[in-house]
Amino acid sequence: MYRSHSCGELREEHVGKAVTLAGWVQKSRDKGFVVWIDLRDRYGITQLVFDAERTAPELLEKARNLGREFVIQVKGQVIERASKNPNIPTGNIEVLVESIQLLNPSLTPPFTIENDTDGGEDLRMKFRYLDIRRNPVKENLIFRSKVAMAVRTYLSAAGFIEVETPYLIKSTPEGARDFVVPSRMNKGQFYALPQSPQTFKQLLMVGGLDKYFQIVKCFRDEDLRADRQPEFTQIDCEMAFVEQEDILNVFEGLTKHLLQEIKGISIGDFPRMTYDEAMQRYGNDKPDIRFGMEFCPLTPTGGTFGFNIFDSAELVVGISVPGCAHYTRKKIDALIDWVRRPQIGAKGMVWVKYNEDGSLSSSVNKFFDEAGLKAIAKQMEANPGDLMLILAGETHKTRTQLSALRMEMAQQLGLRDPKVFAPLWVVDFPLLELDEETGHYHAMHHPFTSPKPGQLALLDTDPGAVRANAYDLVLNGNEIGGGSIRIHDKQTQSVMFKHLGFTPEEAKAQFGFLMEAFQYGAPPHGGIAFGLDRLVAILGGQETIRDFIAFPKNNSGRDVMIDAPAPIDDEQLKELHLKWDRSTE
Ligand code: AMO
Repeated sequence: MYRSHSCGELREEHVGKAVTLAGWVQKSRDKGFVVWIDLRDRYGITQLVFDAERTAPELLEKARNLGREFVIQVKGQVIERASKNPNIPTGNIEVLVESIQLLNPSLTPPFTIENDTDGGEDLRMKFRYLDIRRNPVKENLIFRSKVAMAVRTYLSAAGFIEVETPYLIKSTPEGARDFVVPSRMNKGQFYALPQSPQTFKQLLMVGGLDKYFQIVKCFRDEDLRADRQPEFTQIDCEMAFVEQEDILNVFEGLTKHLLQEIKGISIGDFPRMTYDEAMQRYGNDKPDIRFGMEFCPLTPTGGTFGFNIFDSAELVVGISVPGCAHYTRKKIDALIDWVRRPQIGAKGMVWVKYNEDGSLSSSVNKFFDEAGLKAIAKQMEANPGDLMLILAGETHKTRTQLSALRMEMAQQLGLRDPKVFAPLWVVDFPLLELDEETGHYHAMHHPFTSPKPGQLALLDTDPGAVRANAYDLVLNGNEIGGGSIRIHDKQTQSVMFKHLGFTPEEAKAQFGFLMEAFQYGAPPHGGIAFGLDRLVAILGGQETIRDFIAFPKNNSGRDVMIDAPAPIDDEQLKELHLKWDRSTE
């Protein structure tokens, strides 16, 4: 037996007991006549003590020679500590060691294995196995396991069957590029790794499984951000004989259960907002509704504003930032610089202060008299003490810019409280989205999403106006899940492919299997997929999903620990029927 107890387990009631512990040397303190060692494992830290009075000289010497991260097994007796440490659960006791067995020495770790480490991100990623020994990373992984377990328990109890779908498949369009895998046995042919199990879960419904889920890896070759990894995990779900309302209810139930089970928070029914409303009120299809500062569009009271920038704009819209009327010129100028950064792209920003004494001042005093500013304040429902920030320009761009500014102000004011959870459903998404570069429409969710009843004909006349049976679950300004009611008949699916620019031949070559399946009694069906990494990070009060993934990729899509991706040798290339021109390296 390697150990009788873990390093987080011993308390005063164990005093006098003979124990065996195993773990890593966190640190040691040598006072000459006495040596203390902090022994760590997954469960905690126990202090070991060796002293000249009670410990044999060879053992004391052995203890002195143990370095950081050496793996040892010790036998000894639990004793009460003379000076107790109230900061750790085992702080009332220590173990007087009688023997040490060195299980494995360690090189000096490249960074300290402490909660606050001296290691930078790159170094910690290269030695991720050491990083995982640190409490914050370890706790995140344990937390993730707990969430995944709660999901499985809930969905299994609700009658969902967990089914695995293949990873070596044909391209499924979810809007990103595919990772491809060359086939050795089929010369010149490639598998694609799934961007999601979308078509398979639909085929499982045709197969009559009725309620499916899977906690599954998905692969997308897209630009990376804090909330995106090239391989990530979905809680993927599908149900047959359902309408949108059924899906929303079941998965609102799952989300409420997780908030209750994991965070001990009970939340009432989730608000619902249409896509159009979300864009108007927040300029964003994933609004953070933990705080207000909703958009107020401005219209001139008498024909024109008398201010060209506003008059020539498609949209003039602002937010009232509470309690910021005291902002100095310097602070406001910094905000103007912020919105002008290329990432945001606004040309400028108008501000109006509604001072505490009721007076108004602004950056546009030349164009607006007291009454004009009052009219703005009235339209914006501003209160004394508010700072109004106004942008003008093309509708979509202006909304996007103001949305970013709203989030920035919330950040500055500490309104994005990670302990507050504000979920909502965004529904009635457009079916299609215009790609400004190519001028073509593509599916906003994916090509299998059904249009709202009766809107199919509108595809010919006004494709951008067609709304879909598609919904997103948004939590604290993050899209944590998305899904739709699917098309389940060949005819509609063909119309959809046509509008997405597929010829009948192309549609058949890529999705013939699905169209065929639809002819064999496909039931009405729909589903949703949650991003597990995002869900876990947000429940954990953070937004960087990397911190909740055991072995994540960096921002260039590299695993710096195993050094992947990497070249393969000529022999392997040949076997895969691939040619690589090494002169281009
Ligand atoms: P969608 O593409 O919206 O839908 O993805 C579902 C959820 O997966 C998460 N997600 C990601 N998480 C981390 N890194 C990424 N690169 C990444 N991309 C997406 C998001 C998102 O809400 N098959 C459909 C679902 C359906 O229709 O049932 C799908 O994949 O949280």
